[in-house]
Amino acid sequence: MRVLSGTQPSGRLHIGNYFGAIRQYVKLQDEGNQCYYFIANYHALTSLRDKKELEAVTLHVAAGYLALGIDPERSVFFLQSDVPQVTELAWILNCVCPVSLMEKGTSYKDKVAKGLAPTMGLFDYPVLQAADIVIYDANVVPVGADQRQHIEMTRDIAGRFNREFCRDVLVLPEPYIVPEVAVVPGLDGQKMSKSYDNAIEIFQTDKQTVKRCAQIVTDSTPLEAPKNPDRCNVYALLKLFASGDEAEQIAGKYRAGGYGYGEAKKRLAELINERFAAASAKYAELEKTPDTVRDVLREGGRKARQTAEATLARVRDACGIVTNR
Ligand code: TRP
Repeated sequence: MRVLSGTQPSGRLHIGNYFGAIRQYVKLQDEGNQCYYFIANYHALTSLRDKKELEAVTLHVAAGYLALGIDPERSVFFLQSDVPQVTELAWILNCVCPVSLMEKGTSYKDKVAKGLAPTMGLFDYPVLQAADIVIYDANVVPVGADQRQHIEMTRDIAGRFNREFCRDVLVLPEPYIVPEVAVVPGLDGQKMSKSYDNAIEIFQTDKQTVKRCAQIVTDSTPLEAPKNPDRCNVYALLKLFASGDEAEQIAGKYRAGGYGYGEAKKRLAELINERFAAASAKYAELEKTPDTVRDVLREGGRKARQTAEATLARVRDACGIVTNR
């Protein structure tokens, strides 16, 4: 099975990214699939307007993924911008993609409503994403639930290309969405997201994690009173990190009363720090040797370009684009 996924480098990695994406990527890699994972920096250009920030976040996400278990010996791990073929394919796909399909894009509308500039790039975002996917003949695309529409659009666009040029050139991908972890709550109970400023970062000091956990919003039930774990943001996060037994135990303490939110927050911070201790050490090492990260990306880019160029040659041939290189 050929697996592919991309991540927009839009901010520092947080535990929502981990449960929603990275953990699945590593699992699919460990199951022996052919995995292609990349950092979608062309996509990030639809929203970022700070050169330094985009460069820094691109390398942060790359180092973070390596620290969290993406293994470049087993997965092809690269930057979108090291495969310029993908923007060429995006143009060709633009020529078969109806405007009306893009007009149905809910992500575009949401982003414009949130204040992002309505550029052609933002509007066309799903076509570049379709190119990202089909250029590697991907069968399976692990994504969050919010990306389902983009995968459907990819299937639609690839199907159109095949029909209009009467060839089976492009593979239609399936989404892979893990429902139970699709939404990780943030400090305020909304979906954890950089743009809501409610995220708990993975690569920060243990002290910062404690501080951030202390900011989780809870109700004002007094310490002695019984509490409902299923209506508590702290517990929702604890469940992700604690063993089944410990989660049960803590739920019991909530219901019995005499157990405060403060204590639950402290335990949560401990569990988060434990879970990411090894990854944080690896990350700190990679941060000190950015050239190692660059070398890994360069090699991944080389492998990705080979696959991409082969697909693009089929595509150019199917639609009559002559080249003389
Ligand atoms: N749009 C995806 C997101 O925001 C990122 C992305 C870009 C992607 N290209 C992709 C995801 C290709 C999967 C496959 O999460």
